[in-house]
Amino acid sequence: MGQDNPINAYKKPSAAKLLAWYDKNRRMLPWRALAGETPDPYRVWVSEIMLQQTAVVAVIPYFNRFIKRWPTVQALANAHRESVLKMWAGLGYYRRAHALHETARLIVREHGGVFPRDEKSLKALVGVGAYTAAALGAIAFNQKTNVVDGNVERVMARVFAVEEPLPQAKKTLTALAARCLPRARFGDYAQGLMDLGAILCSPRSPRCDLCPWAESCWARQKGCAEDFPQRAKRVKKQQRKAIAFVLFDRKGRVFLQKRPEKGLLGGMLGVPTTPLNARKPLSWEEALAYAPALGTWTSLEKGVHHTLTHFDLELSVVVSRAASSVFQGVWVAPEKVLEQALPSVMRKVLNVALQS
Ligand code: ADE
Repeated sequence: MGQDNPINAYKKPSAAKLLAWYDKNRRMLPWRALAGETPDPYRVWVSEIMLQQTAVVAVIPYFNRFIKRWPTVQALANAHRESVLKMWAGLGYYRRAHALHETARLIVREHGGVFPRDEKSLKALVGVGAYTAAALGAIAFNQKTNVVDGNVERVMARVFAVEEPLPQAKKTLTALAARCLPRARFGDYAQGLMDLGAILCSPRSPRCDLCPWAESCWARQKGCAEDFPQRAKRVKKQQRKAIAFVLFDRKGRVFLQKRPEKGLLGGMLGVPTTPLNARKPLSWEEALAYAPALGTWTSLEKGVHHTLTHFDLELSVVVSRAASSVFQGVWVAPEKVLEQALPSVMRKVLNVALQS
């Protein structure tokens, strides 16, 4: 931002007021150190990876189970990949589980089990991008970093009444956030800003009456906090179509296989499918190349709809009975199928097929 940008003339909101608000109103979250306690970088790291694409309420039970099972980075490094993925089942974005496990091993192997502290080494860890490195730096090590997530963008867009729409406005909002940083208590400040965005400065119906920054908030002064951040029109997600093959054997058991490590739902258990992100739907003849067995396949009336990061998926479910598979995989009794570590989309498919 240039020197003469009018935004530079705006009054900065008070970091001290935010910190005082945080001291009274902070959320109790299982990965957070209590006031005066030293944070555990391992817990902060696990939580930040889980929170990358998942809401706080959904993360809490997963985080608690994960930490109970693997309380230290050494324990996680010694775990089997399978059990980490099993623990992750249902949380989505499974690449994060692979990254977590790989990074735990690297930290034990190359850093003697101690978390690196500098931003460059943090960013070199698998699964740690600029945002997560900044969050770890501030929350785990109290370093002066600029932690900007969606909540912080919203707060900045309102405080400075930024007209530029998201996503283009990200750069401007990040620069504004950098201008607001305090001189100390960087971890508390980062988390305070997150809590402000989550508790008071919510997308709809913000509680400006309780906000420690209300006085210096331009959107509030204009009486239109809800109108920020502005957003460019959303482009509709790409639509993808694929077929899920549910094969039963003579005993009614279901055929499952582990998906390849690389690619969508990598390393997770599920029924065989045609490629989930194929741009063009396959003909039935082409699709059959992915079927785990020859034989008669019947298409079910009910399919499955699932939203993934980059596309909306329509899965047709086809079933075949009393067949044996030509693929490598496992046969699971129908009453045990939903107890497996399955990604949500596979759970949906199996629910449909088991009710057919
Ligand atoms: N979102 C991302 N990181 C978070 C954290 N440490 N606390 C609350 N929400 C978060």
